[in-house]
Amino acid sequence: QPQAIIFDLDGVLTDTSEYHYQAWKHLADDEGISLTHEENDEHLRGVGRRESLMYIIRGHQYSEDQIQEMMERKNRYYHALIERMTPKEIVPGGVALLEEIKSAGIKVAIASASKNCRLVLDRLQLTSYFDGIADGNCVVNGKPAPDIFVYAAGLVNVFTPNCIGVEDADAGIQAIKAAGMKAVAIGPASRFHGPDKVLPNMENKHLKDLLVE
Ligand code: G6P
Ligand code: MG
Repeated sequence: QPQAIIFDLDGVLTDTSEYHYQAWKHLADDEGISLTHEENDEHLRGVGRRESLMYIIRGHQYSEDQIQEMMERKNRYYHALIERMTPKEIVPGGVALLEEIKSAGIKVAIASASKNCRLVLDRLQLTSYFDGIADGNCVVNGKPAPDIFVYAAGLVNVFTPNCIGVEDADAGIQAIKAAGMKAVAIGPASRFHGPDKVLPNMENKHLKDLLVE
């Protein structure tokens, strides 16, 4: 039995990964740069704000001031999309699964690269479910570095080998593995390298479905 289950937020508990894509797409369109859904899945999913922008503008010349302005602009577009989110946008099965985990005496935490993590959790009315929240303001090195998952494990006082991490991005799966945790991937198996388990989504999933071995 794990002592903690650490969830990514965007794309796992809610479909904000689509909103991140739409906001980046808006910015890319402004700049006359192409960006496809496929590129988003392969290069941007789960990747931090600056790293995402660097991918989009690769091969183009921009000053640091322009880079800062574009990150702020993307964040404004993203805010406009998450402003009106409600608990209806929690993925099907999400709340039931969190409740089952908590009633089994297992800690639940968040490990999200997003600086908007707490805002989204508040909109979804999920904040009080978590024993620890590690977000984009906590660690310097983003996924695939293990830091955010290690930080989340520390918040709930659990050794990393006793944690399971849940992620929709391959960068996140690599972060979980590098942290020494068991990794559960949510999404198509073709997206991931080396997770311990893959589930298509969270619908009708129970604690036993997240357990490895
Ligand atoms: C998460 C999302 C990414 C996003 C990153 C930073 O990892 O999956 O799509 O780029 O957070 O989010 P932020 O809200 O800080 O720009
Ligand atoms: Mg994600």
